[in-house]
Amino acid sequence: MQNGERKKVFAANWKMNLTADEAEDFVKKLLKIRIPEETQIMVFPPSLYLIALAKIAKGRPIALGAQNMYWERAGAFTGEISAPMIKDAGAEYVICGHSERRHIFGESSEMVTRKARAAQIEGVIPLVCIGETLEERQAGETLEVLQSDTLSSLAAVDADPDIIIAYEPVWAIGTGLTATPQDAESAIAYIRSQIKEIWGKTAERIRILYGGSVRADNIDELMRCPNIDGALIGGASLNLESFLEIVTNGTNI
Ligand code: 13P
Repeated sequence: MQNGERKKVFAANWKMNLTADEAEDFVKKLLKIRIPEETQIMVFPPSLYLIALAKIAKGRPIALGAQNMYWERAGAFTGEISAPMIKDAGAEYVICGHSERRHIFGESSEMVTRKARAAQIEGVIPLVCIGETLEERQAGETLEVLQSDTLSSLAAVDADPDIIIAYEPVWAIGTGLTATPQDAESAIAYIRSQIKEIWGKTAERIRILYGGSVRADNIDELMRCPNIDGALIGGASLNLESFLEIVTNGTNI
């Protein structure tokens, strides 16, 4: 299966940014834009905004997701949200194991796979992030890290073509440094080969996104790569115009 057969994904990860008014304004304006048929748009706002945004986007071709969750369904876990709550809020996706969760908040792949499995059980689709640090890349350990993170982050998860993976090299996130299309393609092709080891043919249907300093001027060469199915965008997704420019440039290739 070539990437032309996998629906492209452009996902905005707002991280801990924007006010509630700014978030609503963004989504309302986004809904006025014609989304190309072959493209899927996702927005990952701070969880507090999900309920309001889901009401605005209900029945429209924009999917919403949470940026994180805990694997238990309910209980004494102060500050956490669960997969049933995400679903109840009207969101369809959840990011599991973003590099900021792994590196700032100490999440391991074992925690990531528990989260992804808990989401899957509730019918919330996990978007699982994987990526090497600069030290690991410089030590020549990139493939080892990608193999181990892919296999352990998906260990508890059932094969499912709807699950999305994001390859986000840690050194490219928020730094202005983007992986070259060649490096991104070879890392993503390798991740796909690892998924094939555990999930067989399903691996060909999984969308694998690139993330890390994606901008309107580098998206088209990334999207020309046969294994890259879209982008997870941080900084450049906070502004509607720059996000739309990425979607346009990444779609018309
Ligand atoms: P930037 O696009 O700001 O580099 O962030 C990437 C990212 O972490 C998306 O999840």
